[in-house]
Amino acid sequence: MTEFILKKPVYLCGMMGSGKSAAGRILARKLDTDFTDLDDVIEEKLEMPVKQIFKEKGEAFFRRAEWGALRKITLINKIQVVSLGGGSLQNQQVTDQLKISGWLIFLNPPQSVLLERLQSAENRPMLTHSEKNIDQRISELLEKRMPLYKQAHITLNTGGETPGETAEKIIEKLKIYDS
Ligand code: S3P
Repeated sequence: MTEFILKKPVYLCGMMGSGKSAAGRILARKLDTDFTDLDDVIEEKLEMPVKQIFKEKGEAFFRRAEWGALRKITLINKIQVVSLGGGSLQNQQVTDQLKISGWLIFLNPPQSVLLERLQSAENRPMLTHSEKNIDQRISELLEKRMPLYKQAHITLNTGGETPGETAEKIIEKLKIYDS
């Protein structure tokens, strides 16, 4: 645990494979706060794995459920660490709402690292439900999502470090921003 006391919720955004959940879990432990993984909240509410929601109900349904769950979290505004899904910043309104509610932090590893981590993408419907190969699909999603990711309060160009090291880097930044 660190001496630092968080004053606002922390939202971790970034692509699938950027390490949001792994770093977020450790960050929450270090800050002695709760941790919420948005995908887990959606799965619990709909009693179905994300993969199955995509398959049976489609992406638009998933996005509505995702925004519903996220809106609730931002309205409650509990001080905690929340790991978002890769596509959670659906539009400007969502991005603004998150930035008003807490610290939005973008984990941004190089595309080569994402590709390495996402090669076996069985549980990643956004990558597998496409004719394109995984690298092309990552490029396409990054291009579309980057304008919103880049609006985060803090961007961390991660890559070679462990989730624990990423969590430490986030704390160092928060000490400046959340003082
Ligand atoms: C998605 C990312 C996933 C999950 C869903 C859609 C996306 O979360 O929300 O499969 O659109 O990038 P992770 O980023 O935690 O893998």
